[in-house]
Amino acid sequence: MKSKNVLEANEIPQVAMDAMNDIHRDELQIVNNINEAILNHDTEQISLFCKDWLEHTKAHFERENYMMEKYDFPAFHCHQNEHFEAMELLEKTLAAWFKNADLDELSAYVQKTWPEWYLNHISTMDVITSAFIKQSMDKER
Ligand SMILES: [Fe+2]
Ligand SMILES: [Fe+2]
Repeated sequence: MKSKNVLEANEIPQVAMDAMNDIHRDELQIVNNINEAILNHDTEQISLFCKDWLEHTKAHFERENYMMEKYDFPAFHCHQNEHFEAMELLEKTLAAWFKNADLDELSAYVQKTWPEWYLNHISTMDVITSAFIKQSMDKER
């Protein structure tokens, strides 16, 4: 049987800061909930979880942006820009969902576009950023 999860929690690359890992795991849980609702053709549940997803992602990116600025992370703009572009695509995709409720369109994003982006972004930007910030925080102690 095909898994209802777009990714398993243990597939998420781990970063140096636990708080970031927790946020990444929580976001995956929301997306897996959406995927289960997609497989059940439950448009009401999908819409509810999509609202959570938007809010969670906004908070997730804002927090990382804030930490990068606070600790003067050298590649701040590069990382922030990936957040900006990802947020734009997420907002566009979810706005289309709320307008048309097209399951095929949403599932292509949820099952393919997003997991690929997520793994790539975390294993590059977040891993490096988290290592840098953790080191800076340790120095402060
Ligand atoms: Fe992140
Ligand atoms: Fe990030």
